[in-house]
Amino acid sequence: MDAFKHNVLAGKTAFIVGASSGINLGIAQHFARQGARIVVVSRTEAKIAAAAAGIVEAGGDALGIAADVRDFAALDAAFMQASDRFGKIDIVISGAAGNFVAPAAAMSANGFKTVIDIDLIGTFNVLRASYPYLNRPGASLLSITATQGTNPAMFQAHACAAKAGINMLTKCLAMEWGPEGIRVNAISPGPIAGTEGMARLTPTPEAEHALKSRLALRDYGSLRDVADTALFLASDNARYITGSIIECDGGCKLGDASTSDIGNFSIKM
Ligand code: HXC
Ligand code: NAP
Repeated sequence: MDAFKHNVLAGKTAFIVGASSGINLGIAQHFARQGARIVVVSRTEAKIAAAAAGIVEAGGDALGIAADVRDFAALDAAFMQASDRFGKIDIVISGAAGNFVAPAAAMSANGFKTVIDIDLIGTFNVLRASYPYLNRPGASLLSITATQGTNPAMFQAHACAAKAGINMLTKCLAMEWGPEGIRVNAISPGPIAGTEGMARLTPTPEAEHALKSRLALRDYGSLRDVADTALFLASDNARYITGSIIECDGGCKLGDASTSDIGNFSIKM
């Protein structure tokens, strides 16, 4: 129980989508250690059950719900189930994503649409479905975008377009929902170690080394780096921050360190 002595989020409920693995699971575990009640959501029943069980075994309070972000009705039902159990929702993280490396000329219309549907429309669905269930004033909504939302990247047309859309959606919802006391922000992570995302984008040690050598901080970030950023933005310490895209990227977006040619590491034309 020692790990649960902090209480920055005590009494709050966090609904975290895409939380069966990687960055979003890292946020869920960190928020549980800070005293929040956690709802973890993703597509795959077995994976989300394991994620929730892990948080409970570590001493936290968690509910796992399977839902596909492309299915608005499933998300609405998930929010209803979560608020039946925990009451109004204080924090929403929209982080589900799908990605693969492919040149646009070899990308089918359905391949492009699939990533837009999961990342961009899925984020609208999560945030829109949350709206009736939010604690207001005071709710904090966070989406997980990427440097690809501002820096164009080879073989990432679908993800770049989707993440750019998430950035603008963040700002529009911040304007519309701010008067009700709902803050809407996004985190833009750089390359994060040990994630599925980087396994797909830099699959070899050579590709990883080449990218690290171009980052200002010369290393990948950790799950904890993103979770700490999310904790700040979700907490009352960030009460005057809304409509912001907060970079946690080791300088990834700067000059030469941009991931604009990241796909070159992992694809042969
Ligand atoms: C070309 C591909 C492809 C590939 C799939 N497709 N993989 N095209 N190259 N490697 C095409 C398929 O042929 C199909 O088009 C269409 O995409 C849909 O494929 P499905 O397999 O039916 O889709 P689905 O089952 O919904 O799976 C979605 C997925 C999958 C995105 C394709 O990889 C997935 O579930 N990913 C979730 C995990 C993940 O991606 N994690 C990393 C995300 S984070 P056709 O025309 O044949 O029907 C990340 C971090 C970096 O990316 C941040 C940068 C933004
Ligand atoms: P990950 O482990 O693959 O996480 C993706 C999550 O999304 C999983 O929980 C997956 O769970 C869920 N998901 C996928 N499709 C879904 C759908 N249709 N409906 C509901 N859930 C779905 O990847 P990650 O690398 O940690 O990335 C997490 C987030 O960070 C993404 O938004 C990504 O774009 C962003 N990001 C990552 C990096 C990085 O370095 N990894 C950098 C910048 C931004 P199921 O399989 O159970 O559905």
